[in-house]
Amino acid sequence: MTIIVTGGAGFIGSNFIFYMMKAHPDYRLVCLDKLTYAGNLSTLKGVLDMPSFRFVRGDICDRDLVYSLFDEEHPDAVVNFAAESHVDRSILDPSLFLQTNIIGTSVLMDAARRAGNIRFHQISTDEVYGDLPLDRKDLFFTETTPLHTSSPYSSSKAAADLLALSYHRTYGLPVTISRCSNNYGPYHFPEKLIPLMIINALKGKSLPVYGQGINVRDWLYVEDHCRAVDLILHKGRIGEVYNVGGHNEMRNIDIVRIILRQLGKSEDLITFVEDRKGHDLRYAIDPQKISSELGWLPETKFEDGIRKTIKWYLDNESWWQEIIDGEYQDYYERMYSGRLEPR
Ligand code: NAD
Ligand code: TYD
Repeated sequence: MTIIVTGGAGFIGSNFIFYMMKAHPDYRLVCLDKLTYAGNLSTLKGVLDMPSFRFVRGDICDRDLVYSLFDEEHPDAVVNFAAESHVDRSILDPSLFLQTNIIGTSVLMDAARRAGNIRFHQISTDEVYGDLPLDRKDLFFTETTPLHTSSPYSSSKAAADLLALSYHRTYGLPVTISRCSNNYGPYHFPEKLIPLMIINALKGKSLPVYGQGINVRDWLYVEDHCRAVDLILHKGRIGEVYNVGGHNEMRNIDIVRIILRQLGKSEDLITFVEDRKGHDLRYAIDPQKISSELGWLPETKFEDGIRKTIKWYLDNESWWQEIIDGEYQDYYERMYSGRLEPR
């Protein structure tokens, strides 16, 4: 089986490539990635020379390139991780999110149709459901929860989901969609909550917690997400959406405190800063469908996953140091300067 994995030089895509190489050593994996600020070829250095792997630098919006890649590789399936993925960046400038996340997905699906309706899996997010109130612990997102997005990022992902379902109905494209909660683990780009807090704590810098830090996310170790995608790809029902999440809801401030405690750093580093615009309050997934249909359940407990993640950042300083030495500095300045004054 040959699978085109888009966005495989990013956080979850790279973890998926490593996972699939172990789970299916006989598969050919072709990674198509534009290497935006979030993509790192160094992440893939351990697999670049493997005969069952090919890396292609390119944009999923580039129709000619995508069509010729499909002509060359004759893939059996596509798993689309490629996306602009950071909510804060989508608030600064939505346009690239619409281009990559919506147009790019449509180009890939056109290529899949043209190649004979090959299997297409769209990696989506629980953020398409909007948010849940903080005081209703009994409410969860199911696959039938209405789409109700808050940010340009989540709106672009919801648009891609609707397009994917429409390609299934209109053209018979064998599509599945997974909507996962917040992932954490190795190779997570430093702009996101968990790596940002680990790295800032290690550097003795302020830890910028938005608002009061009471927003809740449902955290899943990245390998558990990869296993869910593998299962859906092979056994999921065509035309269906599967929520992926682990009943591991935590407030941001509690995550930050755990990280500080594990690193032996002072809570004085915490700085409450101006809140994110339109900040979603709570995400919480009901994974009943994927667990009853496909037998999927999260395997990594948060206490183990966060310990492994912190250790990974301690052991792989050169990976993140190279990133934060680059254009990340401009982003950090733009995003946080003026915001970091204690309120
Ligand atoms: P990421 O930002 O770490 O990686 C994105 C990758 O896509 C990068 O390698 C980047 O170079 C590549 N890319 C971006 N635009 C491209 C384009 N036009 N053409 C080709 N490649 C392009 O993102 P991530 O956190 O790994 O997320 C991967 C997917 O999972 C996204 O679709 C995201 O919406 C979804 N998702 C993420 C989370 C999470 O917690 N990180 C949760 C649920 C769903
Ligand atoms: P993030 O990692 O950006 O993921 P998402 O917004 O997709 O859930 O943020 C996770 C939570 O952490 C979210 O509620 C925003 C909050 N947050 C902070 O408090 N400070 C920060 O510097 C960042 C990046 C996020």
